Amino acid sequence: MRRFGAGIDRSELTPDQLAWKGRVSQAFDRASDRYDQYAHVQRQVANGLSHWLVECLQGGSTKNDFEVGSALEIGCGTGFFTSLLVETFPLTHWTVTDVSPAMVESVEKRLTGNSKLKFQVADGEYLELPKTFDLICSNLSFQWFHDLPAALPRLMQHLNPGGWLVFATLDSNNFSKVYARYPFLKPSPCSTDSLQVSLRVLEDASSIQRVHRETIMRSFPDLREFLVSLKRIGAGTPAKEFNRRKSELLAALRQSRDAQVDEEVDYRLLFVAAQKPPTEP
Ligand SMILES: C[S@@+](CC[C@H](N)C(=O)[O-])C[C@H]1O[C@@H](n2cnc3c(N)ncnc32)[C@H](O)[C@@H]1O
Repeated sequence: MRRFGAGIDRSELTPDQLAWKGRVSQAFDRASDRYDQYAHVQRQVANGLSHWLVECLQGGSTKNDFEVGSALEIGCGTGFFTSLLVETFPLTHWTVTDVSPAMVESVEKRLTGNSKLKFQVADGEYLELPKTFDLICSNLSFQWFHDLPAALPRLMQHLNPGGWLVFATLDSNNFSKVYARYPFLKPSPCSTDSLQVSLRVLEDASSIQRVHRETIMRSFPDLREFLVSLKRIGAGTPAKEFNRRKSELLAALRQSRDAQVDEEVDYRLLFVAAQKPPTEP
């Protein structure tokens, strides 16, 4: 496994933002051992995204005649999505990355012995790989980017002409049912704006863009179990702007437990595919 490249430039981040990124990566480090046991939604989304990705690349044709010589995965986790990608594109040379060193170790163990795979610890938001790819993809990591609209054009620069950027992330109305019941849990509205700006950025930069939305519903015995489920997979780091008040949280946990009604949780997903124009202008 290789560590961060020497030239990674994250200098535009403030100390607070860097500290937040550190907390995100450490939370996923800590969760890497138990991730497979609890990441049911992530596994389901990985399946859906792998099929959708093929549909996008085939562009309506029923044949698998597209060629993907080299590809990059961002935020591989323990490798659910990676395994599906490698099955789907067995001839492709993959660079498989994650910001969490422990996650990269896990995926390396899962897919050991495949000479077409290279593993690297990297912040997908500030890639300094001196390479371009035919495909860049990611399942459920871009919601952890500090500034997605700014990151997308940088990622497009890592695509070969005609190359694809395909990812699933959490949509702007993710967990809206939960937030309707517990408004204080809601992060500030900037993530909504950020996704809209991101889609506009891709519209400007690419010739083809597809978007697909879906919702996965899950029930939890109470609010506490839902919050614990996020923590178990490493996704419990609060948003940067989140000012959770302890007394409100404790009251909500009590209220949810006493209600003895399941908490219905809505995972709202956004799938995006963008293609770099086949010839540079
Ligand atoms: C919810 S998990 C998804 C993992 C995997 N793609 C899957 O389908 O199970 C999110 C992953 O994104 C990674 N991640 C978070 N921020 C990242 C960043 N800036 N760059 C690269 N990976 C990041 C985390 O370490 C974690 O492994």
